[in-house]
Amino acid sequence: MSNSARPPKRRMFGPGTTIEDLKTYMGPFAASLGYRFNTEAEFVDEVLASELEILEATGDVYCPCRIRTGDPKEDVAIICPCIPFHREQFAAIRKCWCGLFIRTDVSDGAELLGVMDEPEAGTPIDIPVCRVSDLKPGSVRHVKVGKNDLAITRVGDEFFAVSNICRHAFGPLGDGVMEGYELVCPWHGWRYDVRDGTTDHPGSDLRVQPLFIVNEYVMIRTSA
Ligand code: SF4
Ligand code: FES
Repeated sequence: MSNSARPPKRRMFGPGTTIEDLKTYMGPFAASLGYRFNTEAEFVDEVLASELEILEATGDVYCPCRIRTGDPKEDVAIICPCIPFHREQFAAIRKCWCGLFIRTDVSDGAELLGVMDEPEAGTPIDIPVCRVSDLKPGSVRHVKVGKNDLAITRVGDEFFAVSNICRHAFGPLGDGVMEGYELVCPWHGWRYDVRDGTTDHPGSDLRVQPLFIVNEYVMIRTSA
């Protein structure tokens, strides 16, 4: 079962919402994904003030630097903080599009204000998937980062990532349970060794992806 800490459930805002309300909710949400508010405090207040105007006009905190399509299914990807929807892009430019949020490893947010070029195809990008403290030993969780659909887990102080999809009948391994180094599928109990993805079922090994730790965050490496 996915039993580790999650980003806070998305909050709806309404009349009377203040900039402080937004900060109180968005700060921990962004931190759980490896981001923090820009170090330029005045800029942060300006962006959040724009979001409050948009909230009053539209009923939600849509991004001030994106154009809404009018289709709620598409526009959900630009409700602030939209980091979960654009993790590869933001990891590559080390901030969200507006610059309201910067990666926690950026010390001076002023450097990242303004439009930034996307990296060239093939450039390695390191993406935070969760905080170390959010993944307790023995827990499993599902993470989707761009093309990577993974079950990540922790055994002691070792971190592992395997494909989220069980090779038996596509069960969700991110909802499985750990027994030692074995991840047990929640549907019919197939077992996989998370160190190398192997299973007793011939030809059904899982793809594994290395994880590493930077500044208290569990990271994966992918490419632009
Ligand atoms: S780009 Fe930044 S400011 Fe805009 S919605 Fe996403 S997180 Fe919020
Ligand atoms: S789908 Fe995983 S064991 Fe059947």
